[in-house]
Amino acid sequence: MRLLTGHATVVLSGTKLAAELGTSRTEVWRLIQQLRSLGVDVAGHPATGYRLRAVPDLLLDEVLAPLVKGTIFEHIHHYYKIRSTNNTAMEAAAAGAPEGTVFLAEEQTAGRGRSANAWYSTRSVGIYCSAVLRPPLPPSDVLVLSLAAGLAVHSAVREVDPRVNPDLKWPNDLLLDGKKFCGILTEMNAEATRVQHVVVGIGINVNQLKFPGDLRDTATSLRLVTGNEWSRVELATTLLKSLHREYRDLLENSNARESILRRFTEHSSYVRGCAVRIDENGRFEGVTEGMDSRGFLRVRTTQGLRTVLSGTVTAV
Ligand code: BTN
Repeated sequence: MRLLTGHATVVLSGTKLAAELGTSRTEVWRLIQQLRSLGVDVAGHPATGYRLRAVPDLLLDEVLAPLVKGTIFEHIHHYYKIRSTNNTAMEAAAAGAPEGTVFLAEEQTAGRGRSANAWYSTRSVGIYCSAVLRPPLPPSDVLVLSLAAGLAVHSAVREVDPRVNPDLKWPNDLLLDGKKFCGILTEMNAEATRVQHVVVGIGINVNQLKFPGDLRDTATSLRLVTGNEWSRVELATTLLKSLHREYRDLLENSNARESILRRFTEHSSYVRGCAVRIDENGRFEGVTEGMDSRGFLRVRTTQGLRTVLSGTVTAV
């Protein structure tokens, strides 16, 4: 289990803790046992006092909920192992889960990416997170929402470590040193003019030290790029807060859409002037010319300007 240390010096007696909490020593003992069952490493016992040795970097709802208080993310569910947080979130949303319900997993056994790809989801080294949203928007606006989710990851990563400057690849990948460390899978249930619910599924490679053969040349993690271990709790809470800000802004400000498209373009080497190959019901090549007002990518080809609706972009 991954442990974050650094709280290791203070010894507190059971009597003092009980007095500070306004409870009994027996109740303190019960609470310490509960913390231990959650993986918090507390040394000692009532007679000697207690010493916090290490806090696990698990994305527990009890840990995250107070840290994201004031955002729409009021219902957090944590799983040690799940097939796919997006599957569970889509099922929960269909069954009426409120907006702002979040599903986080330590490990996914059937993590999904775009275009029926799998998402490599090994235990407790990445962030596997899906959020239920119920935006009062037409389905055509969901691409912009999805681009905003990419911006939310971008700003969260930079808030935690300003040295890191991810490159956004249209529509939903984040890259470092040309390799992917984050992907976003946005799924929805919609009528012709109105969205019922959207699930924004975000996968971030945080502390992976290696990847299997087929991913070795194309995937990276924040740890591999920066050389240091990242707190997943800190990154996940920073991410939920920035996702909250982007989402609120999109719903409340009439100029948010322009701002999202502008900022996405600013942080992307792909959106303008990039020679690309597009795989979308066939393959073509061209040079990118920005996005249209709905967030679709424009590519200048020898046959004229084409609009990419959902393809995979590769720089050539
Ligand atoms: C992609 O790059 O193709 C998108 C990857 C999305 C992966 C995340 S991990 C959390 C959520 N659950 C899933 O099964 N997929 C998304």
